[in-house]
Amino acid sequence: MLESLPGFRDFEPSACAQRNVLFQGWRTVAHRFSFEEFDGPILEPLELFTKKSGEEIVHQLFSFEDKGGRKIALRPEMTPSLTRILGKNLSTLKRPTKWFNITEQFRYERPQKGRLRSFYQLNADIVGEPSYDAEAELIALAIESFRYFGLTHEQVYLRLSDRQLWQIWLQSFGVTDPEQIGSILSILDKWERRLQSDIQADLQKWLPTSARPKAFWEATENLRQAKTLDAIRTCFVQQTNDPAIHQSLQQRLVEWEGLLQRLTMLHCEHFVAIDLTIVRGLAYYTGFVFELFETGNQGRALAGGGRYDELFEKLTGHAMPAVGFAAGDVTITDLLQKHHLFPTYQRKIDGVLVFEPTEQATALSYAQQLREAGCSILYPFGETKSLSKQLKKAYHEQPRYILLFTKEAGEQGNVQIKRLSDETTHTIPYKEIATFLSSKPL
Ligand code: HAM
Repeated sequence: MLESLPGFRDFEPSACAQRNVLFQGWRTVAHRFSFEEFDGPILEPLELFTKKSGEEIVHQLFSFEDKGGRKIALRPEMTPSLTRILGKNLSTLKRPTKWFNITEQFRYERPQKGRLRSFYQLNADIVGEPSYDAEAELIALAIESFRYFGLTHEQVYLRLSDRQLWQIWLQSFGVTDPEQIGSILSILDKWERRLQSDIQADLQKWLPTSARPKAFWEATENLRQAKTLDAIRTCFVQQTNDPAIHQSLQQRLVEWEGLLQRLTMLHCEHFVAIDLTIVRGLAYYTGFVFELFETGNQGRALAGGGRYDELFEKLTGHAMPAVGFAAGDVTITDLLQKHHLFPTYQRKIDGVLVFEPTEQATALSYAQQLREAGCSILYPFGETKSLSKQLKKAYHEQPRYILLFTKEAGEQGNVQIKRLSDETTHTIPYKEIATFLSSKPL
């Protein structure tokens, strides 16, 4: 037996039904927040992803050469494609532009719980808005995309962090070069998963000689643990008395306060925790960043995003502020299953037709008419079996109605319709079948 590739899933009908519930919910929420749906190709030029996404994603690419010798990749995320698509007409772009999509992504990762090689994402982005109103709107949408399915702040929460704040912190240690900043942010992103000694050895490469890795590690560990704006301020006070740093910090904390207030106005405050341990693996983020997690669980992220004000300029040559996030289908599906928040799967059939051999033409003609009227209709294939065998199979399908076409009723222009919800049988003229099926819902 040939199996599917590692990290790829088959969606049999019940799994497909759950996926449809998820996509339908995501689409509904995105429309409620007035986002427009877009799409793009699954295959993109390799260069789109190697340019600015960051090493982690580049190592995970499914990439190859096509028959024309082009280097191409299956998209691992949507953000570079969105930037490419909107980048075509930036000068006339409506500001803000709010776009979303629900698409499959591919990453050559080690398959594990919550992580596969093919997965779906809800992506939502606001382009052209420099103020934190954009972050507030996206965070509210991200939270709603979980709350919509019945998840509460006791089950999921959002960890809010800030790469700009981290940059001010690094500046206080004399780190100002973009390459050094990028490398240290990447060390911060993996901080929890590594030994202190390894982190310090890596820091040695990127910190100026004036900053000792051990002192940096200890002060930074304190900042990572800060859970309030006051605690963040205290860490900076302990670290430096440089007025320029404190001025930058003060300006940034005013934006933090503004964003937190907006989130309260949008009824999101119970879901949000200040948490600077979030740095994000993708290199293009420049400001506020966030990830959603299951409360009290060390599992993989449910969603993640942030501001990426420089990506447009790097990919298209034209500056454009942008914020976005993506939620993955794998972790949320596990969570909705765990809390029994998916509806029970049941194939929905309006009518099963059962007929004597002489009535086949009439029955099939009504099958087509009922389908045109919007009903889901099933009838037996192959040589006509006895009515009792057909009825047995018909019950097994659990339809709303069984329609019995017999010669005797047919001569009167009638069909017998059994309603399974109350086990009643009705003799209905042919021309009223569609009305009966649609006007007597279960
Ligand atoms: P990301 O953090 O790489 O961000 O992915 C977002 C979400 O996609 C993750 O939180 C997770 O739920 C899901 N995900 C990622 N990789 C996998 C995987 N291998 N298997 C299953 N699920 C996965 C981005 O993709 C950014 N492009 C989001 C964004 C949009 N930023 C701005 N706009």
